[in-house]
Amino acid sequence: MVGPVELVTPRLRLRQWRPDDLTACARMVADPEVMKFFPAPLSRAESDELAARCRSLIEERGWGFWAAELREAATFIGFVGLHIPSADLPFSPCVEVGWRLAREHWSRGYATEAATAALEFGFTTLGLGQIVSFTTLGNVRSQAVMHRLGMRRDPEPFEHPALPVGHPLRAHCLYRLDRNVWLDRARPQADAATSRSLPRNHGQPNG
Ligand SMILES: CC(C)(COP(=O)(O)OP(=O)(O)OC[C@H]1O[C@@H](n2cnc3c(N)ncnc32)[C@H](O)[C@@H]1OP(=O)(O)O)[C@@H](O)C(=O)NCCC(=O)NCCS
Repeated sequence: MVGPVELVTPRLRLRQWRPDDLTACARMVADPEVMKFFPAPLSRAESDELAARCRSLIEERGWGFWAAELREAATFIGFVGLHIPSADLPFSPCVEVGWRLAREHWSRGYATEAATAALEFGFTTLGLGQIVSFTTLGNVRSQAVMHRLGMRRDPEPFEHPALPVGHPLRAHCLYRLDRNVWLDRARPQADAATSRSLPRNHGQPNG
């Protein structure tokens, strides 16, 4: 892939990280509410490291956890995208779709809008057969995003190996979306968009 990919949705731009994102990112990951389902809020140094990792993976592959910004105001609101988890998970190898938004940008549909574009990129440009998402059992907001995206939850939870045995966040649920299922969901919308752009009497005998 040549250069970082940028995805544009009606309200958002998913793009490569920039140095001026670092302050807003640090504010987001220092917020205990945003980090409620992670082991701990992050320091400025940890946040900068996270942003640098996201940036270098996008540099390397063209895609990753993109910086998400509001198109209208060019405001950084968090990150959303696709990632190959580094942990050895029971369902590895896999590509996950994930998200983290600053608290003031919740409840506006941004995570679902951005993730919809990331899924489309994963299934079409990358040609992936399946995309997963996972989170700790208590993170119902994140699970609601997975559900809205049409992902299906595996019946059995799994233990996240990066967390110690007995850690309250260790039990996770896994959601999956297969390319075929995504195509079936995407197709009626695509067909509707096509028919809207056709003349009204398309396919009808004239007169
Ligand atoms: C997970 C997270 C991204 C979900 O954010 P969210 O705002 O709940 O999800 P969405 O962006 O899809 O927004 C959906 C909400 O916007 C509302 N909404 C408002 N305008 C909307 C619009 N134009 N289109 C769609 N939804 C809209 C929906 O009704 C829904 O409302 P709700 O908050 O009452 O449920 C956010 O809670 C977060 O960053 N959490 C911390 C980090 C985290 O846990 N990440 C996941 C780790 S696995």
